[in-house]
Amino acid sequence: MELRVDEERILNGEEGESRQKAMELLVALGKVYGAENLIGITSAHLSGASYKTIGEGGLKYLTDQVEGGAKVTVPSTLNPVGMDLGRWKEMHITEHFAMKQRKIVELYGKMNVMTTCTCTPYVGPNIPKFGDHVAWSESSALSFVNSFIGARTNREGGPGALAAAIIGKTANYGLHLEENRVPSVLIDADIDGSVFSYSLLGQAVGSRVGKRIPYFRGLPKDTGTEEAKSLSAAMAASGAVALWHAEGVTPEAKNYDVSDLEVIHIGEKELKDAYGQLNTTEDIQLIALGCPHLTEKEIHEIAAMLKGKKKRPGTAEIWFCTSAAIREKCAKDVKILEEFGPVLADTCMVVAPIEGTFSRTGTNSAKAGNYLPTLCSQRVMCKDIAQLMEAVY
Ligand code: F3S
Repeated sequence: MELRVDEERILNGEEGESRQKAMELLVALGKVYGAENLIGITSAHLSGASYKTIGEGGLKYLTDQVEGGAKVTVPSTLNPVGMDLGRWKEMHITEHFAMKQRKIVELYGKMNVMTTCTCTPYVGPNIPKFGDHVAWSESSALSFVNSFIGARTNREGGPGALAAAIIGKTANYGLHLEENRVPSVLIDADIDGSVFSYSLLGQAVGSRVGKRIPYFRGLPKDTGTEEAKSLSAAMAASGAVALWHAEGVTPEAKNYDVSDLEVIHIGEKELKDAYGQLNTTEDIQLIALGCPHLTEKEIHEIAAMLKGKKKRPGTAEIWFCTSAAIREKCAKDVKILEEFGPVLADTCMVVAPIEGTFSRTGTNSAKAGNYLPTLCSQRVMCKDIAQLMEAVY
């Protein structure tokens, strides 16, 4: 791997130990993946922020980083953590967990990371532009910015994204290179166009294509942020898709001739199978919406659905998950939602320790439908929002 003189200086420790360690990690990754050089990035998005997922080992790693003087040098945002930093008591979180979680967020803050704690930073404040090279490590978010925006990122791990944020560069391989962004399988999709149908489509496609780059034909032309985020999240969870193209929808789709690709048809039968895979109970204790985090539009639609209705006593608890910024922006709608359950910021149903309180959860997200059983020991009901809500009013 070819390093510039200033990069060699960092590697030799002339700019301090923390930058040296970060550079060592980038160079090691670059060697593994055959990168020829480093490339400058415009932003980073970091995962590995919940005390539930990173534990004491992660806390120690972050403490060492801060004590070594680590600072990010490009705008960097943070993924959801294990609780709403202000309203954690409403989530049945213990004092001990809250104390550890606050410490983790504080450590990221000391490194100048924006402690946004959201998995949808691409609706603000971290919005890459077409062609930007970035280092993002939330699987749903990185697939969204790669595909729907046309930025360039690999599927980074937490430490790799942090190292890139510290140096302001990443190893130039994989999806940073044009030749690796070419679609490899054609998906002939037949869906009804609801956001939930994109989630089921993602489930069906991810489990069939794994890491490959799908090219969709047949998606509605008005596929927007909400649909793209659901599709990205589902394919990243049921497979390992980091980039997808869709005819008439995504910016790079027009660059490719797909006439020779293998074709996979996804229609009613395949969506029904996906639904069957995701649903393992009809009896739930918690309904958790917002995977990925609810957007302004989604909160508005849910408020319209719930307006004038009352939650039936004894029905499932409800959490609405979004970012602090969106919650603040949607104050009027949030008031309506709060009649049904807390609108939580900074966190989500997967990275929060819900297994201490619940064992059966409802969600409208295929991503949550994949992770709730494995990471939170839940049985799952996965339906669209209107159907989930019918159970509580
Ligand atoms: Fe976001 Fe949590 Fe889902 S981080 S994508 S809401 S699993």
